Amino acid sequence: GENMLWGGRFTGGLDPLMVSYNESIYFDRAFHTQDIRGSIAWARANHKAGILSIAEFKAIESGLNKVEEEWVAGTFKIIPGVDEDIHTANERRLGEIIGKDIGGKLHTGRSRNEQVATDMRLWLRDELRKIETYLVDFLKVMAARAEQEIDILVPGYTHLQRAQPVRWSHWMLSYGMAFAQDLDRLREVIVRVNQSPLGAGALAGNCFGVDREAMAKELGFDGLLWNSMGAVSSRDFVVEAMQWGSMLMTHVSRWAEDLIIYSTGEFAFVRLADAYSTGSSLMPQKKNPDSLELLRGKSGRAFGQMAGLMMTVKGIPSTYNKDLQESVEPMLDHVKTVSDSIQIATGVLSTMSVNPQKMLASLDPFMLATDLADYLVKKGVPFRETHHISGQCVAFSEKTGVSMDKMSYSDFQKIDSRFEEDILKSFNYEHSVEQHSAIGGTAKARVLEQVEILKKMLE
Ligand code: ARG
Repeated sequence: GENMLWGGRFTGGLDPLMVSYNESIYFDRAFHTQDIRGSIAWARANHKAGILSIAEFKAIESGLNKVEEEWVAGTFKIIPGVDEDIHTANERRLGEIIGKDIGGKLHTGRSRNEQVATDMRLWLRDELRKIETYLVDFLKVMAARAEQEIDILVPGYTHLQRAQPVRWSHWMLSYGMAFAQDLDRLREVIVRVNQSPLGAGALAGNCFGVDREAMAKELGFDGLLWNSMGAVSSRDFVVEAMQWGSMLMTHVSRWAEDLIIYSTGEFAFVRLADAYSTGSSLMPQKKNPDSLELLRGKSGRAFGQMAGLMMTVKGIPSTYNKDLQESVEPMLDHVKTVSDSIQIATGVLSTMSVNPQKMLASLDPFMLATDLADYLVKKGVPFRETHHISGQCVAFSEKTGVSMDKMSYSDFQKIDSRFEEDILKSFNYEHSVEQHSAIGGTAKARVLEQVEILKKMLE
């Protein structure tokens, strides 16, 4: 302990396993840029508060920029057992570059508790903004495909049983609308993440008169955290981002599951590009949808990180406790998983081919049984009765082996005399999807309307 930055009161050394158990440098070095930028803002605020002379501030600023250059160039040498975390590592190196007399003034009034919260918020904000652009790209591909493939019809399923015909684009946009809500939520989450803890101190705030608003502005924060204890205590911003990512990954996973089913030989609605498939080491004919399976599988991992962090934070007393260091790795892993997943999903979707003939051939006249019932409703028959009559038509077809669309007018007449000759026209899938013309339905104009709504969100 005596070698450490905080070693003044310590005489004994740390258990070597405790050293590695305690250190976070091998993962929190991910925040080197944020840590340096935060320290420059901190030094400037201390200069303005009269703690650092202009010469001292300039020396610290240029020294910190040199430290950052070392990180970027890959020449920063972590000293094992000394550089406990990114904050102590940067400060140690700064002291070596500009001398400890000036370097030792940087940490005036500051705590690593506010530093780590600042670094994590800056890092997460920037990553979430990248994720926002990936999500927008994904949705653009969805909207474009939905528009181009508007005339393709496909079975719609409930219980994975063929239910009613829909437009392929309608299926696509069912996910598009879910991801659009994810985009909405993400934009709200970013604002809450992007609040500055800097100036909160270890827990009690700052006694040297630093201008918190000026520091927040310099670092691009949207606002300040209003309670110093809460500011160092909370990892709500990480939890919320991971809850957001978990919801998104739920949608990714279900979307992937649909496409895994649709890419089987039995369905063959879609075919994945080679770039997103892999072969079998044993069976030469295999082309497996590994990209989609990983999207489904990695969703479990993303949920796990979120649930794990909630368990970590739920019983911690206020304010900073070392347990909070356990929020860093789940955040790094979760964010990478979500970020990569959206980009992979975009790749899969933009390169996947569809087989409209196979989709059409999978439609089954029974899927129009509801239309048959609706037909009689329009002739004034109560729905409960028409449902039963249509059921009798299904039974007739099953018993005789005559497909429902091949039944004759007299077959229908025998079942119910209120069927008129135009009943034969009901057996048309295009006609069926066009009939569902209320907002949100399968009619072409209604699906194109969804495309427009989606595109407007992406501008
Ligand atoms: N590395 C720590 C973290 O990630 C910050 C250090 C705060 N440590 C302390 N003993 N107050 O949470």
